[in-house]
Amino acid sequence: MRNNPLIPYVLIMAFGIGLIFFMSLDGAGSKDEAHEAGEGGGETTDVAEIDAAAIVQKSCVGCHGGDLTGGMGPALNTGLDAEHVKEVVMNGQGAMPAVIQDEAEAQAVADYIAGLE
Ligand code: HEC
Repeated sequence: MRNNPLIPYVLIMAFGIGLIFFMSLDGAGSKDEAHEAGEGGGETTDVAEIDAAAIVQKSCVGCHGGDLTGGMGPALNTGLDAEHVKEVVMNGQGAMPAVIQDEAEAQAVADYIAGLE
């Protein structure tokens, strides 16, 4: 059998396609990571995408108790005013530090807390 002069080109092409495939896998993976980093960094501003319950679980239950009935901080399931909650989470109050910087997130969490009772 004669050596086909096209073989090196076919090999290079196969290698190139494989490389593109793996690079795209890697790209998709880092997009997920970037998305997660965005959530953690509080860059979300689209209200519809904000999961207030998840933020509360992550940022509030440590001090206000797992069911928000009070811990080191006071109970929050007492029908608090949303405006007040928003003000407190963004600026802190007494022994409570400011926990949320993003206004849309603070609003979503405030609405969520105000809806508890
Ligand atoms: C580091 C602990 C800590 C974390 C984390 C924390 N809180 Fe607090 N929180 C406190 C303490 C302590 C107080 C009481 C502050 C005071 O009035 O002296 C308080 C008070 C509050 C108040 C005021 C209640 C009132 O009756 O005026 C609200 C509302 C509140 N927290 C909501 C939240 C929300 C929502 C989160 C999560 C986004 C959160 N807190 C996270 C410790 C914390």
